Amino acid sequence: MKSKTKDPGASRGRARSPEVSINSIPPADPVLRALKASAGFISGEALAAGLGLSRMAVWKRIHRLKARGYVIEGSPRLGYRLLEVPDKLLPEEIVHGLRTELLRGPLHYFDLLPSTNDRAKELAAAQAPEGTLVVAEGQSAGRGRLGRQWESPAGLGLYVSLLLRPPLPPHELPQITLTTAVAVARALERVVGVAPGIKWPNDLLLDGKKVGGILTEMETESDQIRHLVVGLGINVNNREFPEEIAETATSLALALGRPLARVPLLQAWLEEFEGLYRRFLAREFPAILKEWKHYAVTLGSQVAVRQGHATIRGLAREVALDGALLIETAPGEVVRVTSGEIVG
Ligand code: BTN
Repeated sequence: MKSKTKDPGASRGRARSPEVSINSIPPADPVLRALKASAGFISGEALAAGLGLSRMAVWKRIHRLKARGYVIEGSPRLGYRLLEVPDKLLPEEIVHGLRTELLRGPLHYFDLLPSTNDRAKELAAAQAPEGTLVVAEGQSAGRGRLGRQWESPAGLGLYVSLLLRPPLPPHELPQITLTTAVAVARALERVVGVAPGIKWPNDLLLDGKKVGGILTEMETESDQIRHLVVGLGINVNNREFPEEIAETATSLALALGRPLARVPLLQAWLEEFEGLYRRFLAREFPAILKEWKHYAVTLGSQVAVRQGHATIRGLAREVALDGALLIETAPGEVVRVTSGEIVG
């Protein structure tokens, strides 16, 4: 059996069979919306009248919300009051306040999946539309770049895959990947207030350690991309990592010294990506690349890039418009690297 290397951004997970929770984006629950909008208690009667529901229907919805982890206080005299939203990536939380137009589901949410990328590819084969999103609380066989494993402990990280159908030729894939990384960097900066570094092509770093990564996979048809799955993994609230990656991986919680809600992070990524993706389709990649370089931590320094068994060493001079890393291996000698990994 082929042994797999753990990725520095990865952490431990457990294998068990997937559990499906929700299959498509729900219209925001009106009772939940009303509870969120109310400053304090709201009576069952007022909820029923305001929403055009029977008292029994309100009660059933409250019951369902509680079963999903919402903490709702019930008082015979005062009614209901929302006390706590569960720390989960529930679809109703993701869509609440989400400012996207293009990337609005369908949203597929799972407690556990082998890999969100694999599920997104299955959905793509079944004609799922652009903007389909697969989210899992945990993955039992999460995959990283270069055949690695991305172990994904439940409830601690962000494991999400987005299905796209850009009308473009396959050779533009590296550019989309760099665009995705810029969206993650922007989202982290916006939500966390700290600008991460990007290590070519798309590793997200904080304090010099890997906090997130992107796995982009596509299917082509002649010279056209049929579909593209952008998989994003971010270590959010992990407190420890397996020994082999403990030195090179971090999480947002470790870097910031506090736990972080995952939903706002996912919303920010979707919002930032939508804007950048539109610009990308409008042929504005040169400006996006400029922004990528603003976050880049590798350009201008000596690097070693592993490509299979070979290692290319030199000065990371530039990232070209096609996404290739240009390495000056000797004065006047520049090698183009289109895939691989910077190892030092
Ligand atoms: C990397 O090697 O840096 C890329 C890691 C990508 C991991 C994410 S987690 C969600 C999606 N599903 C997967 O199986 N992999 C990606």
